[in-house]
Amino acid sequence: MKTVFLLLGLCFALLLPSSFAADKPSELTRLMRQMLSYIKQEKLQIENNKPALHFPTTLQKVSKAKITAGKKISNEHRQYIADFFGELNHYYQKQDSAERRTGFNLLVSSCINCHQHECPGPIVVIKKNLLEPTEQ
Ligand code: HEC
Repeated sequence: MKTVFLLLGLCFALLLPSSFAADKPSELTRLMRQMLSYIKQEKLQIENNKPALHFPTTLQKVSKAKITAGKKISNEHRQYIADFFGELNHYYQKQDSAERRTGFNLLVSSCINCHQHECPGPIVVIKKNLLEPTEQ
C-alpha cells in the first residue's frame, strides 16, 4: 500500500510542471487527467478483486475535444482513439481475473501507443499502471 502512495505522489510530482505550463488546460487535457485517474483506480479495483468502475468519458467526447494550441496530433489520431475504445470494450467483457489483468494491460498499452506518436511526456506516468503479468 505504501508503494502505491509513493507512486501516486511521484505521478503528481511529474505532472505538476506540465499543469502549470498552460494557464488553462485544454479540453483534451482535462479528459486525459480523468482517464489517468480512472486507470489508477481501476488498477486497485483489479488488485482488490473488485468490480470494474465506469469509464469517465466517451469516444465522442475524446474525438471532439480541443487540443492545446500549437500541439500536433498524428494523422492517425482518430484511429488511435477508436483502438483505445475498442480495447476498453474488450476489457469490460473480461470476467476471469487473469483475462481481466491481460485486458487491462492491453488497455494501458493502447494509451501508450497513441502517446508514442502524439505526446510522449506522460508515458512514464501511464506505464506505472501496467500490472505485473506474474502477480496473483
Ligand atoms: C488518441 C491518442 C491518445 C490516447 C488513446 C490517449 N492519450 Fe493521453 N494525451 C493525448 C494527447 C494528444 C495529449 C495532449 C493533450 C493536449 O495537450 O491538449 C494527451 C495528454 C495526456 C496526459 C497529460 C495531461 C496533463 O496533465 O497535461 C495524460 C496524463 C494522459 N494523456 C494520459 C492518458 C491515459 C492514462 C490514457 C489511456 C487511458 C491516454 N492518455 C490515452 C493523446 C492520447
